[in-house]
Amino acid sequence: MREIIVNASKSYKVLVDRGLIDRAGEFVGEATEAKRFAVIADDNVHPIYGERLKKSLESSGFEAVSFVFPHGEASKCQATLGDIYGFLAENHFTRSDCIIALGGGVTGDMAGYAAATYLRGMDVIQIPTSLLSQVDSSVGGKTAIDIPQGKNLVGAFWQPSLVLCDISALQSIPRDFLIDGMGEVVKYGMIKSKEFFDILCSHNIDNIMDIMEDVVFRSVSIKRDVVNADEFDRGERMKLNFGHTLGHSIEQYYNYTGISHGRAVAAGMELITAIAARHGMCDESLCTALHDCLDNYKLTGSKIPAAGELVNACLNDKKRFGGNISVIICSEAGKSEAVKMSVDKFKEFIGG
Ligand code: GLY
Repeated sequence: MREIIVNASKSYKVLVDRGLIDRAGEFVGEATEAKRFAVIADDNVHPIYGERLKKSLESSGFEAVSFVFPHGEASKCQATLGDIYGFLAENHFTRSDCIIALGGGVTGDMAGYAAATYLRGMDVIQIPTSLLSQVDSSVGGKTAIDIPQGKNLVGAFWQPSLVLCDISALQSIPRDFLIDGMGEVVKYGMIKSKEFFDILCSHNIDNIMDIMEDVVFRSVSIKRDVVNADEFDRGERMKLNFGHTLGHSIEQYYNYTGISHGRAVAAGMELITAIAARHGMCDESLCTALHDCLDNYKLTGSKIPAAGELVNACLNDKKRFGGNISVIICSEAGKSEAVKMSVDKFKEFIGG
């Protein structure tokens, strides 16, 4: 088992191993005082892991009840959140009880936000079951729901008490979901570790599962370093947005249905790196290396709109503060910086 300790406003462990869902009862007692758990999961994940998790908790002497909601981003909304609050109240949950978010990013974000707000805050344990949520959303305390005006517009920073990354859960996920998660994984290599980037370049989508424990461990370790340095996303943490400003606008252009998040981020990373090369901020060879690496994971070839079409969507991005926007540029594999520019400069920069 690999262990990573996050030292943000709260210190907690991220454990990475196979078979952790069936052993959860062994670990939760060290992370929270709670004796009662509300397991929140969607109707895809709960039938596979819900009862197994509850069995493990109950055999360690804990009590657990489940709240199950329809899968999909559409559920990450005020209505489902209201249902969660109702469920917690009807089951007499108190501030000394704990929520467990069992599932992917939608579940982790929404259950995390419920934990941040119900009774002004209760413990939450994240048990992410997708690659994207293991390497990104379950760690670092960003929680949110969507409103009709935009994704993740209502949220809070609320760190979990424990994160259990069960690598066995990734064994059975559809290949497209694995591909999707690899977009964020390649991002970690690009922004912080040439060694990790090189490892990823020497593997591909057919053999990456062989080293998945190491992939999740390295990704989460990088995220830990970034969150420890800048929990509230004012500086260093912005580096995690490499490829995301353009990626989000690509997702928005396709109404969040035509392209997955990982593919959009991959396209965003390629696009911003090509633009950086054009401005002499990195070598052309970085564009080729990034393209080849993404190609190993079937993350190239997405149809993307012209840069000009993406400008307006970019300007809605949360990363814009006042009149400025922070663009993350990699000068080489493993080295990144946030470059702040005015909106006009940004338009000129990306050629829109
Ligand atoms: N997913 C980006 C962050 O956690 O800051």
